[in-house]
Amino acid sequence: MLHFKTELEELRINNLYRLQQCHDNKLLNFGENDYLGLRKNKVISSAIKRSIDENGNGSGASALVTGYFSSHKNVENAISNALNFEDGIFYQSGFTANLSFFKTIIDSKFEIFLDKLCHASIYEGVKNTNAKITRYPHLNIDKLEQDLKKSKISKKIIVTDSVFSMDGDCADISSLIDLSNKYKTLLFIDDAHGFGVYGKNGLGLLEHQGLLKKNKKNLIHLTTFGKSAGITGAVLCANKETIEFLRQKSKDYIYTTAPPPYIADGVLSAFQLIMNGSQLRDKLNENIGLFKQSFKFPKLLLNVDGPIQPIMICDNEKVLKIQKKAIQKGIYLSAIRSPTVPKSLSRIRITIGANHTKDEILFLNQILNECIKNEI
Ligand SMILES: Cc1ncc(COP(=O)(O)O)c(C=O)c1O
Repeated sequence: MLHFKTELEELRINNLYRLQQCHDNKLLNFGENDYLGLRKNKVISSAIKRSIDENGNGSGASALVTGYFSSHKNVENAISNALNFEDGIFYQSGFTANLSFFKTIIDSKFEIFLDKLCHASIYEGVKNTNAKITRYPHLNIDKLEQDLKKSKISKKIIVTDSVFSMDGDCADISSLIDLSNKYKTLLFIDDAHGFGVYGKNGLGLLEHQGLLKKNKKNLIHLTTFGKSAGITGAVLCANKETIEFLRQKSKDYIYTTAPPPYIADGVLSAFQLIMNGSQLRDKLNENIGLFKQSFKFPKLLLNVDGPIQPIMICDNEKVLKIQKKAIQKGIYLSAIRSPTVPKSLSRIRITIGANHTKDEILFLNQILNECIKNEI
């Protein structure tokens, strides 16, 4: 117990203690990942309610017992067909899917080539493999190629986020596919923040970068539904054999109650709205433009055009102060510190959504400008 007490105290002293609070819609929210504003969409709510009436509140068992419904299958088919993969498997969350993939498929005979800024769920999965791990500098394809060239290990996998959750920038997937073909590696793409936002039909970064038709034999791709779809859950897509192996062997899939069918039915409804959501994406881009235009300290922003807009304050205490002041004025924004980002790169993370109004964005900037002025 003493050990916990000391560590908790250290978190407080270093301004790294994370405050959890109930949100209950009281604050103007610039911290959630609801990029298209679908979290409270009534069409989706109706699909969920219908599904509850038809299928009940829960799934009742694991997916390999009686917990797998046509609702789950429909989402797996819809996502894998749209992305042009052979098959897909529905997990309760992106975190679980990432853990499960690495634990189940990647063994100690692999070398894993990992972008340094990959998401924590990928790191957790990778830690469970006993494979050799080589982290390459963020987005540095040249260094990745040097590392691949040097490697003496025959089984390799390159791993990347498509859109990086804390910096908001994008991987060059086309070059990664080329490298994976050249060096005969697997390629794992986590599109948690790309789905819904990028691509003409919102299918994510593969669509945005014109890669849907590419041969996907060596690709593993994660789509998650807690962000743009505004619900929860995830589908991991790959070739038939890989997905079948996960169904047969993934303990995180087999030894847990399957997600309720209403989650899958809600996701399917969200997916249809996303596919027809070009107006939402236009509105989102308009809002991002407005935010960037009216923000008074452009040098603090990273040069990214997506809905994730980090404001680089680089001081834990100041980041917390800014967050606290914004909350007092009725705005929630995230104070991102170590270990989520390196110690010296703490930041305010703003997320813009299609549902924000012009006045809300201008108000956000008015408050941000007041708070930041006093801290830099
Ligand atoms: C890049 C990335 N991958 C995976 C996840 C985990 O997804 P989920 O929230 O569905 O567990 C997140 C969530 O923050 C993420 O940002």
